[in-house]
Amino acid sequence: MFSNQTYSLRRKELRNKMQSGIIIILGNNESPANYPHNTFHFRQDSSFLYYFGLNQPGFVGVIDVDNDQDCIFADDFTLDDVIWMGKLPSVAQLAEQVGVKISNPINELQNVVDKAAKAGRKIHFLPPYRTDNKILIANLLGVKISQVAELVSPELVNAVIEQREIKSEEEIQQITLACNTGYNMHTTAMKMCKPGMVEREIMGTLEGISLKEGAGVSFAPIVTINGQTLHNHFYGNTLTDGRMLLVDAGAENNMNYCSDFTRTMPVNGKFTTKQKEIYDVVLSANMLVKKISKAGLTYQDIHIESLKEMGRGLHELGLIKGDPIEAAMNGAVAMFMPHGLGHQMGLDVHDMEDLGEKLVGYDAKTKRSEQFGLGALRMGKTLRPGHVITDEPGIYFIPDLIAKWKNEKTCAQFIDFQKVEQYLDFGGIRLEDGLLITENGCTVLGDKHIPLTTQEVENEMAKSL
Ligand code: GLY
Ligand code: MN
Repeated sequence: MFSNQTYSLRRKELRNKMQSGIIIILGNNESPANYPHNTFHFRQDSSFLYYFGLNQPGFVGVIDVDNDQDCIFADDFTLDDVIWMGKLPSVAQLAEQVGVKISNPINELQNVVDKAAKAGRKIHFLPPYRTDNKILIANLLGVKISQVAELVSPELVNAVIEQREIKSEEEIQQITLACNTGYNMHTTAMKMCKPGMVEREIMGTLEGISLKEGAGVSFAPIVTINGQTLHNHFYGNTLTDGRMLLVDAGAENNMNYCSDFTRTMPVNGKFTTKQKEIYDVVLSANMLVKKISKAGLTYQDIHIESLKEMGRGLHELGLIKGDPIEAAMNGAVAMFMPHGLGHQMGLDVHDMEDLGEKLVGYDAKTKRSEQFGLGALRMGKTLRPGHVITDEPGIYFIPDLIAKWKNEKTCAQFIDFQKVEQYLDFGGIRLEDGLLITENGCTVLGDKHIPLTTQEVENEMAKSL
């Protein structure tokens, strides 16, 4: 936990951004997996963590904009809780730790909301994404669950995004710790990867490292020999000679700050020429993004630069024909990379995505494209110092997509489909790092460099655990 001053200052800044009213920040509750007492791993809401710092279920924070007052609503632990879970501080003591002087039982919240509503004050809340919290808000406001979405406060959503998207130095330190765990996960995967190993064995080890060093994985890891399937959560394949293993995995540190890295490696420890050629095209895009990213440019423009870079590389390999820049601008490279270059990262691996992907990733100046591929970009807006983003270009050979584009002659003037069909069993390559945007450039997050070039990856794979 940060100092109580950090949380008090964050709430003060939020109050200053808002006109009037009360702000309700909902913490998360335990969520049953298969019966009430067998719950999923508890994950606190990230905005609650940001403003109120407490990592317990069943808490709600209220910030009174007009009266410079904050309050935590939660029930004290009963003797039964103490018997089963051990002694815990009181809600008042916990509130004190994050600079909140007032705390009340949870059932007092209804009175506060009713009083504010009666006085005609605005009641601001963020979009709830869990059903129990949707029900709670509906009950508090006396509306139907279907009406909750339209009552979300755009003023609050924008204020929270504006505040949370610029990371402080102490937040960067936490993200760096999560990246350091990411380093341990990825270098372990490189050492474990060999023919005969099952994806699940590597995945389980990586998850174990993330739990040993912090709060677990930051999202369901992708550990697959079928890297062409972008979010592949199947872990049952045996690694075979000749294929590549794609590992997209990150960790949360103890304070729930996240990391997210992707590396791709040859199962047998040595890239074939064909694999290395495509790998180097992805690598040159990953490195170009690190070279050119800086405050003032839009990430949408940088995504387009990465497509041009890959267009040039694919042209050299004969997969793209005609002018590679024109090919990139016309969307041809999107057949090879149908996803975006990256997203913001912080207390969520896709930071603040619960507040709305468009609002987090775009602004008045930068509109989300409707073009296939470019439209999948989650973070397109102007970069500012303190932004943390991922740089994750990839090249994939997705047989169904290739067949569709070939049949429909999509970008046929730019794609040599005959040549592309020689890669149908190739799989996919993605290379991902986290970047901190600065005034004049960017820095790669993490204290240690995760092997990235083909030579570095092969060297790491040759080491034993
Ligand atoms: N690394 C997974 C994702 O960005 O969606
Ligand atoms: Mn990512």
